[in-house]
Amino acid sequence: MSILELKNVTKSFVDGINVLDNVSLAVEKGDFLSIEGASGSGKSTLLTIMGGIDMPTEGQVLLNGVDITEMKERELAILRRREIGFVFQFFNLAPYLTVKENILLPIILDGKKTSDYEDSVKEIMEKLGVLQYAKRLPSTISGGEQQRVAIARGMIFSPSILLLDEPTGNLDSKNSVAIMELLKEINEQTGTTIVQVTHSVENALYGNRRVLIKDGIVKNVKI
Ligand SMILES: Nc1ncnc2c1ncn2[C@@H]1O[C@H](COP(=O)(O)OP(=O)(O)OP(=O)(O)O)[C@@H](O)[C@H]1O
Ligand SMILES: [Mg+2]
Repeated sequence: MSILELKNVTKSFVDGINVLDNVSLAVEKGDFLSIEGASGSGKSTLLTIMGGIDMPTEGQVLLNGVDITEMKERELAILRRREIGFVFQFFNLAPYLTVKENILLPIILDGKKTSDYEDSVKEIMEKLGVLQYAKRLPSTISGGEQQRVAIARGMIFSPSILLLDEPTGNLDSKNSVAIMELLKEINEQTGTTIVQVTHSVENALYGNRRVLIKDGIVKNVKI
């Protein structure tokens, strides 16, 4: 069974144009999938649908075999927090929370005791190289460091799948390589399934699979 499967997904907004047109796509456990496409081609739309943040106009989204388009919002919110790590295009860190609190946010929202997660949060901060910034506010660390914090937050629940929208979109080339190497390591060492959206070929090559989205259609790209 695929970890995540889109079946005949169509998405249109108010204007009636199909941003996604009958898209079927399966992500297998341990995959590192790169989604490429021009600006405005629908990459973020596709990723938010994969992550249950937005719903398709038509079609099914199966997470571990369960169709999340049929779920109640309450149930889905819990599933999103626990099973899906989402890293947004512009980090989306809470400005008045410290680095550590930002990373623990999914735990807090889930009503769990943060004290039970002391070891895991420390381990993740160490892995992502942000342990020394634990008590700082996001505005006082660099863009690359903020991106690492966003990734750490996406990983705190050890999700089945980590979805990243342009994980290096706002970073210089040195920081971009560091983040991509880190994602590759996470994928290989922990077996976490990763889906990234990118417009950079160099970044896309880190994946074991590449797809291109154009005119609402998703096609495989040869590696
Ligand atoms: N909430 C919305 N309402 C109306 N149209 C939308 C909405 N969200 C996205 N669109 C449209 O859908 C198309 C795809 O947008 P999307 O953000 O998915 O593109 P993208 O490939 O992620 O682009 P970029 O590389 O610039 O981030 C665009 O034409 C956009 O204007
Ligand atoms: Mg986008």
